[in-house]
Amino acid sequence: MSITKREFGTLDNGTSAELYTLTNVAGMQVSITNYGGIIVALTAPDREGNFADVVLGHESVQGYLRPPSPYFGALIGRCGNRIDQGKFTLNGVTYTLAVNNGPNHLHGGLKGFDKVLWTVKELPDTENPGLELTYTSVDGEEGYPGTLTVRVVYTLSADNALKIEYTATTDHDTVVNLTNHSYFNLAGDGHGDILGHELLLHADRFTEITDTLIPTGTLRDVAGTPLDFRTSTVIGAHINDADEQIIFGGGYDHNWVINSSAESPALAARVYEAGRGRVMTVHTTEPGVQFYSGNFLDGTRAGTGGYVYRHRSGFCVEAQL
Ligand code: GLA
Repeated sequence: MSITKREFGTLDNGTSAELYTLTNVAGMQVSITNYGGIIVALTAPDREGNFADVVLGHESVQGYLRPPSPYFGALIGRCGNRIDQGKFTLNGVTYTLAVNNGPNHLHGGLKGFDKVLWTVKELPDTENPGLELTYTSVDGEEGYPGTLTVRVVYTLSADNALKIEYTATTDHDTVVNLTNHSYFNLAGDGHGDILGHELLLHADRFTEITDTLIPTGTLRDVAGTPLDFRTSTVIGAHINDADEQIIFGGGYDHNWVINSSAESPALAARVYEAGRGRVMTVHTTEPGVQFYSGNFLDGTRAGTGGYVYRHRSGFCVEAQL
């Protein structure tokens, strides 16, 4: 078990970014930078015990600075996902946020938590090494009210689980919806698209969306739709169906309502890649997960190892409200 730290390149203002790598007893590693709290790499063993990086990423911080950001591996805040027209009303006051995604606000705005430097503290532990990341978002940042102090703890446990715990405190009523935006490819980063991965989502319903991906307010049954992953189904099976929800999302880009469960954190998703035999389960205390099939990846971005990230070469499971 160890925690190491190295330089990860320079930001446009000359500040150096750092990369921390946690290794557990089993040899699994996660690398996280203080820029955006981004998970840069996460290794996992296949059925023969061979480790490969299973997340999309870049070799230095510069790769993450190039717009438009796909939010690879990043911490997202203050508000993950979209806010209609960038406006919300709280206690009778209407707040106007940056509009950065068509007509809507997405993932915290022009400079969300994915684009700020976090303060990192190492949490050495003989069994479960961790990192604590903190960031203070000042009152009015990106249009949100109240100063928000955020703490995220990443822990890599001996049984190959990556745990992410989020807490936030504020001095004023505000809105907050924190998540992590890692893109996974369980065959290994750069190994083609994710359409052959088998997905199970422990959800009977999803939030129906409009053509700008805003929830309509209707929770729809997955039964009889291409969004039914109650039994393990290949992601590509219905991803191009002539279904309005699929057309609006450009594939999967929806929030599933996790079925209530006695277990906490509850099982939200299980993904299996038969070629290499890797399995990932996602457990969360949040009520929903955004399952996003990497529909906006278009081959214009190259990452770790020079891999070109083509359409649907990674998927996200973003636990959120
Ligand atoms: C989220 C959104 C997607 C897309 C990605 C980033 O997952 O739901 O529509 O914007 O972020 O490309």
